[in-house]
Amino acid sequence: MLITFEGIDGAGKSTQIKKLLAFFAEQQLEVLSLREPGGTEVAEKIREILLESHHEITPIGELLLFSASRIELVQKVIMPALNAGQTVILDRFFDSTTAYQGYGRGIDLEQLHSIISLSTGGLKPDITFYLDLLPEEAMQRKFFASSLPLAFEDERLDRMERSGLDFFKKVRQGYHAIMQSNPERFVALDATEAPDKIHCKIIRILKDRYPG
Ligand SMILES: Nc1ncnc2c1ncn2[C@@H]1O[C@H](COP(=O)(O)OP(=O)(O)OP(=O)(O)O)[C@@H](O)[C@H]1O
Ligand SMILES: [Mg+2]
Repeated sequence: MLITFEGIDGAGKSTQIKKLLAFFAEQQLEVLSLREPGGTEVAEKIREILLESHHEITPIGELLLFSASRIELVQKVIMPALNAGQTVILDRFFDSTTAYQGYGRGIDLEQLHSIISLSTGGLKPDITFYLDLLPEEAMQRKFFASSLPLAFEDERLDRMERSGLDFFKKVRQGYHAIMQSNPERFVALDATEAPDKIHCKIIRILKDRYPG
């Protein structure tokens, strides 16, 4: 089974994945937890270019770099794990590409979808938890610890996060559109709720859908 987590930067994906992993560990269920971009030697190098660098990258270049990282992870790690019957939890997958590079950067969605199918080999999540949060609030969370004023050019943000508020508003609208086209696998969660409350909802939904 493939479980993915989606949402804008700072929505709480890592927080929820950590809680879900602890839950699975308590049940003595073995799962594989991965995050995009990255996960193989080559994919981690691509991650550095995409997130840690100050390079100007064209939207299509960005799409292809994310996709190159993805096919590495899918072919070398995810597919072998799924074929061995393992549950895989993935922090971001191709819905991030549709939301960020499609709706955010404005790449033609039809072209984007053909690149996505090339980079996933048609693999789709069984269930996608989408954490919904206003971009303003998500960015405030990132700055909460330092209590510094919000600034999108801040050096502590990664290359994607420095894209600005308007960009993240488009990304969030993109997620809403994707969710409407994929109601069977998308589960929307209000990310303003307390982390434990969100976690309980996730567990309940998984138990309902996959009893035993
Ligand atoms: N439900 C919540 N309510 C309030 N704060 C939260 C909640 N969930 C997470 N946070 C806090 O918000 C910040 C961002 O959370 P987290 O790192 O889990 O987000 P993320 O979606 O993984 O972000 P990124 O895309 O940048 O990896 C953290 O400081 C975290 O403690
Ligand atoms: Mg995270």
